[in-house]
Amino acid sequence: MQTGMIGLEKIFSKSSFTREDIVYLLGLQGTEKTQLFAESARIKEKHVGNKVYFRGLIEFSNVCLKNCLYCGIRLDNKDVHRYNLTDGEILDAARFAADNKYGSLVLQSGEIQHLNFTDRMEKLLTAIHQATGGKLRITLSCGEQSQDTYKRWHNSGAHRYLLRIESSNPELYKKLHPNDENHSFQRRLDSLYGLQKTGYQVGTGVMIGLPFQTLDDLAGDLLFMQQFNIDMVGMGPYLEHEETPLYEFRDKLLPREERFQLTLKMIAVLRILMKDINIAATTALQAIDKLGREKAIKIGANVIMPNITPGKYRDDYLLYQDKPCTDENPDDCKTCLEARIALADNVIAYGEWGDSKYYSERIKKS
Ligand code: 5AD
Ligand code: SF4
Ligand code: FES
Repeated sequence: MQTGMIGLEKIFSKSSFTREDIVYLLGLQGTEKTQLFAESARIKEKHVGNKVYFRGLIEFSNVCLKNCLYCGIRLDNKDVHRYNLTDGEILDAARFAADNKYGSLVLQSGEIQHLNFTDRMEKLLTAIHQATGGKLRITLSCGEQSQDTYKRWHNSGAHRYLLRIESSNPELYKKLHPNDENHSFQRRLDSLYGLQKTGYQVGTGVMIGLPFQTLDDLAGDLLFMQQFNIDMVGMGPYLEHEETPLYEFRDKLLPREERFQLTLKMIAVLRILMKDINIAATTALQAIDKLGREKAIKIGANVIMPNITPGKYRDDYLLYQDKPCTDENPDDCKTCLEARIALADNVIAYGEWGDSKYYSERIKKS
C-alpha cells in the first residue's frame, strides 16, 4: 500500500500510471498535493518551458441546436438572446488578434449542422487568412460535423479543432445529455476520430465536479486523452446554471473550492502523463477563484484564450453563471492577462503559433 511521500515518489518514478495511481493522485490533500503541483510544475518547465501562448477567442454565435443538460445556451433555454456576429465583426476581431501578435484564433459557436453554416465558415476561413496575411493559426470549436465538413474547413485553413468529450464514461455522458441520437456518445467519439484522421491538431476536454462524477471517472478521462493521443486539452470546473435541467442536482455537487482544487489536480496529473501537449488555463477556473488561471499556469497549463468577442455580445454567451470578463472588451482582457501571466512568472509568446509539440512529434512518427 502506498503511504505518504514515499508512495508519491514511487508513483512519479513510474513510466506510466495505472487508473489506481491516478485516483490516488486526484485524492491528494495538504503537503502531498503541494508535492504533486511541484512535480507537474517541474515537468512543465522541463518540457514546454515557461511560455504561455495566446489564442484569441471569438464566441461568434450562441445559436445552438443541441440541448446538453448542463449548458446555459442550450436550445430550450428561451431566455437567451441569440446573436450571430457579422463577417465584418469577425474579421475585425481577427485583425485585432493579428495586430496584437496573438499567434492564433479560436472561432467558437453553438452547434449547427447545416450546409449554409458549412459554406459560411469555409468562406470566413479564407477571408481571415487573407485579411491577416496568413499570420494566424485558426482553431475551430463548432461541435460535431460531418467528415466532409471537417475536411472542407481543414482545406480552407483550419488547423486545429476543439471538441470536448465532456466525459469519457458513456454512462455519465448519458446522464448529462438528452437520450437521443443528436446527443450520442458514439457520434462524439466518431467525430473526434474523424478530426484526427483529417489531420487536425485535436483538442478535447472534460468538465470537472459534475453531479454523479467520481474520481474513477476522472482518472478514466485522463487515460482516454492519453490513449487517444490528444494534442491539446481544455478542462474546467462544472458550474451550475439555473436555467438548465442539471441544476436540479446542485445539492449533489462538491463545494466550488473543491471543484477548483480537483481541476488543478487534473491539470497537474495530465501534465505529468502527457508532458508536451498544450493545456489551457480555462476561463471557468477564474469563475471560482480570482487567481484561477494564474494558478493553473503555475502548475502546468501553457495556453490562455483571451476573449476577443466584442463586449456587447458577451452577456449572451453564458454557458455557466458567474462567467468572468463579460463587462470587458478585448483590450481590457489583454492588459489584464499580461499582468496575470507576469504574476505567474511566465512569459507570453507573442507572435508565435505555439503548435502542440506533441502534435509535431505525432506527425513525424506517422
Ligand atoms: N459549466 C462548465 N462548463 C460548461 N460548458 C458548457 N456548460 C458548462 C457549465 N455549466 C463547457 C462544455 C463545452 C464548453 C464549450 O463549455 O465543456 O464543451
Ligand atoms: Fe450547444 Fe455546446 Fe452548449 Fe451543448 S455545450 S448546448 S452543443 S453550446
Ligand atoms: Fe478578461 Fe481579465 S481576462 S478582464
